[in-house]
Amino acid sequence: MTEAQQPSALETLLHENRSFSPPPEFTAQANAGDPGIYAQADADYLQWWADWAGLLDWERKWDQVLDWSGAPYAKWFIGGRLNASVQCLDRHVAAGAGARVAYHWEGEPGDTRTLTYADMLAGVCRVANGLKSLGVGKGDRVTLYMPMVPELAMTVLACSRIGAIFSVVFAGFSATSLKDRIQDQDAKLVVCADATWRRGKILDLKAVVDEAVAACPTVDHVLVWRRGEGAHSVSPGLARDIEWSSVVDPQEPQCAPESMDAEDPLFILYTSGTTGKPKGILHTTGGYMTGALATTKLVFDLKEESDVYWCTADIGWITGHSYIVFGPMANGVTQVMYEGAPNHPGLDRFWELVAKYQVSIFYTAPTAIRAFMKWGDEHPARHDLSSLRLLGTVGEPINPEAWVWYLHHIGGGRCPIVDTWWQTETGGIMITPLPGITTTVPGSATLPFPGVSAALVNEAGDPIDGAGGGYLVLDRPWPHMLRGIWGDNARYEETYWSRFPGRYFPGDGAKRDEQGFLWILGRVDDVMNVSGHRLSTMEIESALVDHPAVAEAAVIGVPHELKGQAPVGFVILRGGFEASAELAMELRKHVGTLIGGLARPEQVHFTPELPKTRSGKIMRRLLRDVAEGKHIGDTTTLADPGVLDGLKKEYESREG
Ligand code: WT7
Repeated sequence: MTEAQQPSALETLLHENRSFSPPPEFTAQANAGDPGIYAQADADYLQWWADWAGLLDWERKWDQVLDWSGAPYAKWFIGGRLNASVQCLDRHVAAGAGARVAYHWEGEPGDTRTLTYADMLAGVCRVANGLKSLGVGKGDRVTLYMPMVPELAMTVLACSRIGAIFSVVFAGFSATSLKDRIQDQDAKLVVCADATWRRGKILDLKAVVDEAVAACPTVDHVLVWRRGEGAHSVSPGLARDIEWSSVVDPQEPQCAPESMDAEDPLFILYTSGTTGKPKGILHTTGGYMTGALATTKLVFDLKEESDVYWCTADIGWITGHSYIVFGPMANGVTQVMYEGAPNHPGLDRFWELVAKYQVSIFYTAPTAIRAFMKWGDEHPARHDLSSLRLLGTVGEPINPEAWVWYLHHIGGGRCPIVDTWWQTETGGIMITPLPGITTTVPGSATLPFPGVSAALVNEAGDPIDGAGGGYLVLDRPWPHMLRGIWGDNARYEETYWSRFPGRYFPGDGAKRDEQGFLWILGRVDDVMNVSGHRLSTMEIESALVDHPAVAEAAVIGVPHELKGQAPVGFVILRGGFEASAELAMELRKHVGTLIGGLARPEQVHFTPELPKTRSGKIMRRLLRDVAEGKHIGDTTTLADPGVLDGLKKEYESREG
């Protein structure tokens, strides 16, 4: 055991010193090693971003960096023209890096594929030509429902190559969720895989797509990629279905990239809001690519010629868009992509992969780290993790215990950790350490990325300077910011720009410590964070009420050891239905079927009444107090204070 692994060192970090300075040898080689970078970016943030944009390959240079006159609708790099796929592929191949591995892919059963940048370019061109042959063109929407296979990254890039707007739906979402998204964007084509492997079992994705598409008249075709040996043909083909092998494989491996305006849409990605309906977050081309390039390069200290980078997210989430596809590929680095579960066939699958592919940069979520901790130190200890030099986390606040465990048991006590705060809407990392500069403190995302400006404000919108807590706002536009909500400008303006006019409100609370570091405290709206994924309480409530037995439902997020938060439902039954453990299970399943497994409530409690204000609004805060066993807070606005006693009894009897 090395010095750094002694529990005493761990204790020191947790209870005494609580900070980690980048090792001098890390700083010496870092892409950003001089703290002056912050002041330099702030001095002229337009120039800062323009310098990064200048590293992309533009067909036509922009005339103006930013037009914010139509706020809150930003335009970046006005007049510039480029194609996103060219940034990720052609320019690396043209620069002689075609033989560099783009993806070391590993399937869950252990099958492997190695794709170079030249392979990816050829593959993307074939898919692009295939899409064109199906009548897909610039501005058309294409919905993707695929597992973590190289073809997903290829299809994303192929859409961008021909100017089609792609929208990836995480393949854990239900048929209903998929249908809603396809309908919202009037997609012309759905691209899917027939199946994928998860914990040793075949998941039939095609069946989900068939169910969804049955209610989607705008969809002309479903393009089906076959997962391969063992997973073949789990669903029968339909007339609308087109086999990848018949449409993509025969295509030429060249396809001229479509010339895109910097502000042409690149993708739509749905995320949950405070209502029952998910929001289609819209990102455009030039600004998004600039942000992806810059943040990946600096936050992950990327050395494209020597690093092996692995982000364990799924491409179905924004993390995968920005930090598996566009950011790493625009930089030309080698990545690892893994199809399956972290605990299959053993609890050490990730560490086996790190050792096998000599991963140097590893990016994952706190919920995963907490699971690793629970599974036991012996699993990482069995593998040589000395190739790692930098670790990252994203998705939720990281508890200091998990941070310190990550540093010692995965990072060998030597790897800096970047805790990165951002959102689907921000497109890229916004608040983060720079690994060669920042002395990090477990649990703090530290400082805004250079060129980004964040502030804390109180209820009235007045800035909180110095140490203190409040609402987090972003008070300066950035290139990779969302450009709107697909088809719903009013909601865009209302959700993000109305609470604190002129400033972007992400929905998080935060505090600033004495040294100026930011600590994200979590959502302040009716959104919960389950395993690093955003879920709407209203969406889950609607799913519960959809069941014939349910008259009314309230959902809250309660603290959960592994997931961070877990949904818990409180349900009033309709007359004629009896509360039972079976019905609770059925309701939980019902939510899973309607939205996706992620949203399935941890518990469902039956209650004759819910705590409401006199105007009829459910007081979720009081439900949270009940669930957390806390002293019940202020109940003066409650219509019937007696309701809570019954709820407490019900809750405690289930818990016990
Ligand atoms: C919400 C965004 C960004 C990709 C993954 C989630 C929370 C995200 C952190 C972090 C504390 C975090 C916020 C944010 N969040 N990263 N490092 N520390 N909280 O994307 O689904 O758009 O969710 O996740 O609450 O608003 P998302």
